[in-house]
Amino acid sequence: MNYLPKNEHGCPYLLLAPMEGLGDLAFRRAMTSIGGFDESCTEFLRVPANGHVKSLAKRFVAGETDPIPQAAQIMGSNPELMADMTHEIVKRGAPRVDLNCGCPSNTVTGRGAGSSLLKEPNHLYKVAKAMVDSVDIPVTAKLRAGFDDTSLFKENLLAAQESGIKFLTLHARTKADGYVAPARWELISEAKQLLSIPVIGNGDILTVQDAVKMLQQTNCDGLMIGRGSAINPFIFQEIRCHFANKPYKRSWEHLVRFFEVYMENIPAQMPVRNRMSKLKQLACFLFKGNAWLEGNRQTVLRSNFPEEKSLYDLILNLLKESDLYINH
Ligand SMILES: Cc1cc2nc3c(=O)[nH]c(=O)nc-3n(C[C@H](O)[C@H](O)[C@H](O)COP(=O)(O)O)c2cc1C
Repeated sequence: MNYLPKNEHGCPYLLLAPMEGLGDLAFRRAMTSIGGFDESCTEFLRVPANGHVKSLAKRFVAGETDPIPQAAQIMGSNPELMADMTHEIVKRGAPRVDLNCGCPSNTVTGRGAGSSLLKEPNHLYKVAKAMVDSVDIPVTAKLRAGFDDTSLFKENLLAAQESGIKFLTLHARTKADGYVAPARWELISEAKQLLSIPVIGNGDILTVQDAVKMLQQTNCDGLMIGRGSAINPFIFQEIRCHFANKPYKRSWEHLVRFFEVYMENIPAQMPVRNRMSKLKQLACFLFKGNAWLEGNRQTVLRSNFPEEKSLYDLILNLLKESDLYINH
């Protein structure tokens, strides 16, 4: 079975990246209102060494981004607990469970979780294998290219494949690279040549041209986009239209709807100050790459409205004045 089918126009399988904070449920639902991607994924759900898996698993709610399927990503280092968590999450309706092998911080999960798994390919194998063996649905893994360096790159890829995962996503940077250096797409190409399971390419896709270039340069089986979707929520639709040979216009109405869904889905109990910070963070991404909007960034960041409606209106008015969206 091909888990990552291309569509009828040859467009590769497209995934919205897990992003803790930025890519929360409000964002995933807002992105779903525009659509264009095949799957979304939760931010990592931590499985600490002393965790009570049954209650932790309740954080996964099936169907949250319907009609687009939502996978669950989990992070931890204890194979038994990770297997139990996978099992519980699948009981709650997850269509796929992903193992996080990339997060730089592992304070809560204890020694060896997230990107630390990349220091011990054997342990990575044990955790992934325990997860794979615990359920009948696809288990996958998302890896960085290494911890300090790429010395264990191939060992990690092979360990992940050997565990029985259905596909692997490669964020083509080491943990030490952080986010500053450009993603090393040549590593995605290496992974493709080495592995027989499908490889999803990830890192620095900000435009349709980037997406096409990554596919050409790496021959990867699908694309995952994170920050590029916060900069341009229409990116997935644009990629689809490129493959269908159709023009795509970013619609102002769809952007307004995106914001409405975003605001509706920020948890009601979140203090207004925090809701406003989230809105400011999202605006900073949406302003990226447009000189006029970037010139107005500080107006948004320095604003100090007593309630969020005024901030919301300011951001929308600025976006409307940019020449990015078409008013039908
Ligand atoms: C704010 C933020 C939070 C992230 N949280 C996660 C996460 O929970 N799990 C994960 O596997 N990767 C996480 N990542 C990494 C992204 O999924 C992705 O691999 C990375 O941003 C590179 O892709 P991009 O250039 O398309 O953003 C996060 C990235 C950002 C910027």
